[in-house]
Amino acid sequence: MLKATFYGHSCVYITDGKQKLIIDPFLTGNPQAPIAADDINVDYILATHGHGDHLGDAVEISKRTGATIIAPNELAVWVAAKGADTHNMHIGGAYNFEFGRVKLTIAHHGSAAGESQLEYTGNPCGFLLTMAGKTIYHTGDTGLFYDMKLIGEMNDIDLMFLPIGDNFTMGVDDAVKAVEFVKPKIAMPMHYNTWDIIAAEPNEFAQKLDGSGVKVEILKPNESIEL
Ligand code: NI
Ligand code: MN
Repeated sequence: MLKATFYGHSCVYITDGKQKLIIDPFLTGNPQAPIAADDINVDYILATHGHGDHLGDAVEISKRTGATIIAPNELAVWVAAKGADTHNMHIGGAYNFEFGRVKLTIAHHGSAAGESQLEYTGNPCGFLLTMAGKTIYHTGDTGLFYDMKLIGEMNDIDLMFLPIGDNFTMGVDDAVKAVEFVKPKIAMPMHYNTWDIIAAEPNEFAQKLDGSGVKVEILKPNESIEL
């Protein structure tokens, strides 16, 4: 059993009943978050990039719980300097952790941390997570890219989390094409309606994939899906 719970924006909590992970733990300041950062207890934190709406509370959670932050090298170095425990990786690389396998994919986006004074944190990524016999693809923030076709060909993806909010990432039509490239069993839209600038209609995304053979699940914050 693998359970994924959506915490709003791009934040997903994943557990197999033993190991606990969180991807992009943006909780403080996330108007969609159903849980406070102080209530998160995880073994690992996966961070796609340094933007505040993704890295979020990662450092604080790591320092409080001892959770290891898995991130692209430059971001991992940045969070380690803040006192977090890290496992540094890079795009194209995979590693077998005690909970399962993580592989970093490309993402067409930026990566920097900090408020007014930006500190660059390398390249952003997406995550292919294989755990309890299931594979989840969390794209992170990205525009559409044709290599998604290759990711779909080389991996049997059970669940894909992808942005549909436009402006900073793919919008609905590009996200539909991304799903057609990857061919996951289930597609779950994220990174929309957190703020007005990324307003999108998830039902439009679902309608455009009607008949594609891919099931679209629209999770509200705090709703879960079991694989
Ligand atoms: Ni971003
Ligand atoms: Mn973002």
